[in-house]
Amino acid sequence: MVEKLDKEYVLQTYTRNYVNFKKGINATLFDENEKDYIDFTSGIGVVSVGHGNKKVANKIFEQVSNISHISNLYAIEPQAKLGQKIAQLSGMDVATFFANSGAEANEGAIKIARKYGETKFDSKKYKVITLEHSFHGRTITTVKATGQESMHSANFAPYPEGFSFNNKIDDIYNSIDSETVAVMIELVQGEGGVQPLDKEAVQKLAKYLKEKDILLIIDEVQTGAFRTGEFLASNLYEIQPDIITMAKGLGGGVPIGAVITTHKDILTAGDHGSTFGGNYLCTSAALEVLDILDEEKNSGTLDETIIYFQDKLNEIYQNNRDLFTHSVGLGLMRGLRVKDAQTLASIISEGFNEGVLVLKAGKNTLRMLPPLTISKKEIDEGFKRLENALSKIK
Ligand SMILES: Cc1ncc(COP(=O)(O)O)c(C=O)c1O
Repeated sequence: MVEKLDKEYVLQTYTRNYVNFKKGINATLFDENEKDYIDFTSGIGVVSVGHGNKKVANKIFEQVSNISHISNLYAIEPQAKLGQKIAQLSGMDVATFFANSGAEANEGAIKIARKYGETKFDSKKYKVITLEHSFHGRTITTVKATGQESMHSANFAPYPEGFSFNNKIDDIYNSIDSETVAVMIELVQGEGGVQPLDKEAVQKLAKYLKEKDILLIIDEVQTGAFRTGEFLASNLYEIQPDIITMAKGLGGGVPIGAVITTHKDILTAGDHGSTFGGNYLCTSAALEVLDILDEEKNSGTLDETIIYFQDKLNEIYQNNRDLFTHSVGLGLMRGLRVKDAQTLASIISEGFNEGVLVLKAGKNTLRMLPPLTISKKEIDEGFKRLENALSKIK
């Protein structure tokens, strides 16, 4: 039924699996036949506090029963409080613009950088350098910022000017010219293969850019909201970027994007805006999500979960070195490099049959982004099912 409707009425831009999920409890999903699945994907890093989270549901119900949306023509209390919470948790002197998605947050970051480059110097600076295997979004600009040639299809050309990407951090220095305004990177490349960047190399780059008055934009759309174990991966890397973008896990399933910057005076009234961005619904949900995750972190539960997950992952990695070549990632953003793409596809589909949901990243990385609230029992069960799947494909 859902397959027929989907194929007839929804534009077919995704390769979909036609399971019909009906219910979710934390990291466990149930389909229409009541088969259960352990979710190691959290909707690609979104459902950070688990499926069906009652605290978030109650908060949303309470909020939308009263006001869900007024528009940004008026002050919005939960928006202001969320901005304050983000500043507190980041430990930085920042203010936030609220958008609706990761790509939109990155668009906002690029606009701040472009205006900085237009207004702060004698001659215009507008170029943005990114890294190969990065992923920054699907809008015309963010897809061009994405460092994957295969995503710059001629079908959507022409793209905006001023974007180039380098193979590795050390190459960025030579690519900088007098028109470079910003460098935009992910600290753990998510879609590109769960690849963390080297901490010292990032710190060296951050210092160099600061000296040259070139902005550092950190795309934390996937790494933000405690995914790597700290509120921001920037906290883990001990850097103070000029601009940070967030989305995914921030809303726990409610669409929200955030452009967080220390340069509070660059955008002024009329420069940027969004109808839905930061409305009562999404910001009250995100406030609740951050309260829950902050508590998980402070109580030590999140760190315990990360260690437990990592240990189980390591077991499966060591037991299956004939299939896996590397174990990669940070926090609850983990990956296992699979010997080839065909084997990876079989693991994902056999895992699905066994009742565990896992993701692909890059060409050959098995990616796991479980809810940050996943229980030990769910971790045990998920890896047991994954092990069963592996034994079937051998
Ligand atoms: C690092 C990063 N940036 C940007 C995006 C785009 O986010 P969205 O799909 O919400 O536009 C993604 C999505 O996967 C991402 O992982």
